[in-house]
Amino acid sequence: MSEIILEAVDLEYSYPDGTKALHNVNLQVHKGDKLAIVGSNGAGKSTLFMQFNGIYRPNSGSINYQGQEISYKNKALIELRKEVGIVFQDPDSQLFSSSVYQDISFGPLNLGLSEQEVKARVKQALIDTETTDLEDKPTHLLSYGQKKRVSIAGVLAMKPEVIIFDEPTAGLDPRHSREFMQLLEKLSSAGKTIILATHDVDLAYSWSDRLAIMCSGEIIAHGEPCELFMHPKNVKRADLALPWLIEMHGILVQKGWLPTSSPMPKTREELYRSVLTKNAASA
Ligand SMILES: Nc1ncnc2c1ncn2[C@@H]1O[C@H](COP(=O)(O)OP(=O)(O)O)[C@@H](O)[C@H]1O
Ligand SMILES: [Mg+2]
Repeated sequence: MSEIILEAVDLEYSYPDGTKALHNVNLQVHKGDKLAIVGSNGAGKSTLFMQFNGIYRPNSGSINYQGQEISYKNKALIELRKEVGIVFQDPDSQLFSSSVYQDISFGPLNLGLSEQEVKARVKQALIDTETTDLEDKPTHLLSYGQKKRVSIAGVLAMKPEVIIFDEPTAGLDPRHSREFMQLLEKLSSAGKTIILATHDVDLAYSWSDRLAIMCSGEIIAHGEPCELFMHPKNVKRADLALPWLIEMHGILVQKGWLPTSSPMPKTREELYRSVLTKNAASA
């Protein structure tokens, strides 16, 4: 298995008002992982993400990046945030410049890159998020989905090694959700490590190669998505539903439409293919 790039060790965290948000959180993220964190509202996903790039500091425990405990000194945090980028759930908390172009170029300009490099990065980020035609638009006039895509572009332009997406498809229409998933594939193929929080179990199951289930500030299960979802206990405890594909596969096996040995499908197409192959064989 590849090296551990990011790690949470024995994290405990309470907000200043006393809300206990993280308890005994241990999580190892390997380089190149496609890790989904699923959990219902209030499970602690966003709080954990803000520990990952040092926005919040744990009460005890630590965050390690590339084997080293992160430092909370200003300079170290700036360095860390070049490597670990977060696309926040609410794009309004991320966009603050007057135009889309200015907003996306803000981070790379602060890195002290040449004008040419900044332009090239912004252009690529605009293409990747399909926002090229919005580049001169004031950010406050954008629709929610457009803001979301521009906030993604701003993080991509920083070229971080680890990219964290907090509920990325919430508020995107089906076409842009699909395109976002394609963008994730592209980023993974380029070797990026991706962590994504969602309460959409279908998306988490189909996309991820590692999965962590969070509930009441704790990680109650962590491992291979298919195996985790085979344990209804975890899913129930976290107040989640079973992914549609797993439920449907179970029904088809129960009804004898698929053999018990048929592999668990990861995509709709795989499920359809299994059903068609079985029917063709028995025709
Ligand atoms: N700024 C805050 N102050 C106090 N409590 C907070 C704050 N932000 C989040 N919480 C609480 O911390 C817990 C975890 O929240 P959060 O990390 O946002 O969960 P999720 O992202 O999984 O929905 C919840 O109980 C939430 O109410
Ligand atoms: Mg959240």
